[in-house]
Amino acid sequence: MTPRLASLVTPLLRRLDAETAHGLALRGLAAGLAGRDATPPDPILATEALGLRFANPIGLAAGFDKDAVAVLPLMRLGFGFVEAGTVTPRPQPGNPRPRLFRLEEDAAVINRMGFNNGGMEEYRDRLGALPRPLPAPFGANIGVNKEGADPERDYPALYAALAPFADYVVINVSSPNTPGLRDLQGEERLARILAGIGAVYQSGNPPVLVKIAPDLADAALGPLVETCVAHGVSGLIVSNTTIARPETLRSANRTQAGGLSGAPLRERATAVLRQCYRLAQGRLLLVGVGGIATGADALEKIKAGASLVQLYSAFAYAGPALVPALKRDLAALLRRDGFANVADAVGMDA
Ligand SMILES: Cc1cc2nc3c(=O)[nH]c(=O)nc-3n(C[C@H](O)[C@H](O)[C@H](O)COP(=O)(O)O)c2cc1C
Repeated sequence: MTPRLASLVTPLLRRLDAETAHGLALRGLAAGLAGRDATPPDPILATEALGLRFANPIGLAAGFDKDAVAVLPLMRLGFGFVEAGTVTPRPQPGNPRPRLFRLEEDAAVINRMGFNNGGMEEYRDRLGALPRPLPAPFGANIGVNKEGADPERDYPALYAALAPFADYVVINVSSPNTPGLRDLQGEERLARILAGIGAVYQSGNPPVLVKIAPDLADAALGPLVETCVAHGVSGLIVSNTTIARPETLRSANRTQAGGLSGAPLRERATAVLRQCYRLAQGRLLLVGVGGIATGADALEKIKAGASLVQLYSAFAYAGPALVPALKRDLAALLRRDGFANVADAVGMDA
């Protein structure tokens, strides 16, 4: 199958319960059914960040492939990088179903999955079995179990275990679906986690990024940025899903509990990204995520300060053909605006 054909199947999957459809899509991908993006890479999209080379700045966000079962097939769809997880130290089932909801009229999703995943050992073994080098940079997104977690022990242990297999590692302290997790974004607790990672860090280990919530108060961003810089964090991923429910939502599922993603998240996530860019003043690499569905959305994040971008919800709706379409549109917009490359556009509207 080609990515375009795979995208034709995607609307059929929409007749199924959202989680069942996701499971089928992932199995199809893992089996290699979605094919590959055959379009040649456009040099205007090539970029360097975190000491890594990216053929394009458009990545797959965490949560789509929590157990790293389809890393290579996802890279072959044309993503510039792929992030898998969130993985926790021990396997856990997550919240009871249903826990994933489409808000079709709003081009949005609400999820309260609760870090369902097969645990670190399985995840690490899968990564270890992949043929190297991988065709694109790979990010490991780590979190803590719902029961028996000790963040100051668990994040450093996960970092140390996965460092040999990842090009960057993301400290996820922003999922709304694990009670207490977002409290770890506070200055003191984050500092202790990052110090623990510093203690296990060995030269040549992958850079650390912190993924934050769009619901943080504006006043919390300055201390967060400074804490990250002080502890050697390389970048921020802005942002995770929101617990806010904008007035504009129309879908029946808008009252479901969980994190909202997709189009209604875009503006707030971009506003937080822009503030982080201003606060960081070049000291942190920023990854923009939240509501990207078009090349223009991607360029908006880049101009607000993102060196790289990611998406999940729009990809889940549109399927694999979205990836080449986004790349083509972003490249055309960069040329229209007279930019020689992605880096030249970063922060232009910050
Ligand atoms: C079903 C679902 C599961 C997710 N799981 C995770 C996760 O495990 N870890 C994480 O850091 N983000 C997770 N996310 C958040 C996404 O990575 C992303 O930050 C968010 O959806 C905003 O991007 P989007 O608007 O393009 O979807 C999840 C999102 C969805 C929709």
